[in-house]
Amino acid sequence: MPGDLPNDEFRAAMHRVADLVADYLEGVGERPVLPPVAPGEVTARLPGSPPAGPEDLASILDDYQRIVEPGVTHWNHPGFFAYFSITGSAPGILGETLAAALNVNAMLWRTAPAAVELERLTCDWLRQMLDLPGEFLGHINDTASSSTLLALAAARHRHGSPAVRETGLAGVPGLPSLTVYTSDQAHSSVDKAAITLGLGLDNVRRVASDDAFRMDPRALEAAIRDDRAAGRRPIAVVATVGTTSTTSIDPVAEILEICRREDLWLHVDGAYGGTAGICPEYRAQMAGIEGADSIVVNPHKWLFVPVDCSVLFLRDEALLKDAFALVPEYLRTADTGVTNLMDFGPQLGRRFRALKLWMVIRAFGVEGLRERIREHCRWARELAGRIGATPGFEVSAPVPFSLVCFRATDTGAASPTAEDQDRFNERLLAEINAAGPVFLSHTKLHGRYVLRLAIGNLRTTPDHLDRAWQLIEETAERLRVSRELPER
Ligand SMILES: Cc1ncc(COP(=O)(O)O)c(C=O)c1O
Repeated sequence: MPGDLPNDEFRAAMHRVADLVADYLEGVGERPVLPPVAPGEVTARLPGSPPAGPEDLASILDDYQRIVEPGVTHWNHPGFFAYFSITGSAPGILGETLAAALNVNAMLWRTAPAAVELERLTCDWLRQMLDLPGEFLGHINDTASSSTLLALAAARHRHGSPAVRETGLAGVPGLPSLTVYTSDQAHSSVDKAAITLGLGLDNVRRVASDDAFRMDPRALEAAIRDDRAAGRRPIAVVATVGTTSTTSIDPVAEILEICRREDLWLHVDGAYGGTAGICPEYRAQMAGIEGADSIVVNPHKWLFVPVDCSVLFLRDEALLKDAFALVPEYLRTADTGVTNLMDFGPQLGRRFRALKLWMVIRAFGVEGLRERIREHCRWARELAGRIGATPGFEVSAPVPFSLVCFRATDTGAASPTAEDQDRFNERLLAEINAAGPVFLSHTKLHGRYVLRLAIGNLRTTPDHLDRAWQLIEETAERLRVSRELPER
């Protein structure tokens, strides 16, 4: 008979899933971080057409275990050090599972009262943990890219023209080019927001950063002055606390002063580094964020919440509502004094993301979360010290949080050029990642190829870091002896 699967079958499968998940997490460190699959290989192992009739859960789960699970890059691996290392922690996985079972759509308070209220509550918990002023209200988006897009939409509404909502940019007579400022180290999500909001990439100013990769406030002032003189209208500055390449921290307090003087929106991208603000000792470095108009922090980056979960704090949330609220008849309710999350952006439907954040904060406690962040930062500093003390290597950027940027300087040649060093490091990274136990990523700093080792997984221990460094040193030595460089 049609309908969902019988409950006893579901219950048995759910027990098996519990075992699958627990076994996977227990053994994930034994696997290579990068799956040994070629492009198209997963597809080739699966039928190209859907089954006409029902298949039993046992064989579906068998295929999951045989083909899907070994075919992913293991972000939950203790040797995952690429990009920003993250963790789908145990309480986070439980929250995600329960949210899937409830399957509520939190677009309106009426459609999911507990989901909406928990979202407001957990965001306020996070606000308190970060010691942000009480006027900041938070809501959860999928990613920091979406959160930054919304923040800049609010900035466009306030400092561009509210009429844009009705007429579009082209429909506002005499509206000058609306300009956004961010550092040359800022994440590409700022550019994508400018594309999406119709501001255009030409109106994103990439302000120069200093030797420590922090936005130069004098260069910011000069850029604003030049743009005003050229008839453009500056609307917002995006400062970053924890840039993607090096985790550098822009001088937010100085930037805030400029924004206040120039009447500009200040958005702080703390997608990764903002989380460190839960530890009081890290707050001085990000002083000024309390004066921002909006701040994004991603619990799915460094707060051990499974992807996706990005919290956007707004000082004046009503502005975002002004920019986006639009209620078709079928979504009208009689409820008053409630939050309807659909008012805060283009999306209507919304997952119950707060449940996993709530469970993570409760299960670890604020002190537990702080300890883990502190530990990651301490290990990063220790590793940087070790790399700095090793002949033939250099640490390429300061280490304010849990990321170490470094490169090999000795290629085995008597006097290698900068290009030789780049090619050596490129090869070094490829060989390290091919070995299996670790996955690192790279960036370019001052035009030079640099390796990044990001610590952020709860399964990582000092032992994993010892072994990672040993692998890096041994691989570099082998390459120096073999003197093989990739072709230009
Ligand atoms: C500083 C910073 N901001 C924004 C982002 C974008 O994050 P998301 O994937 O949540 O959009 C990243 C991604 O790593 C980042 O490092």
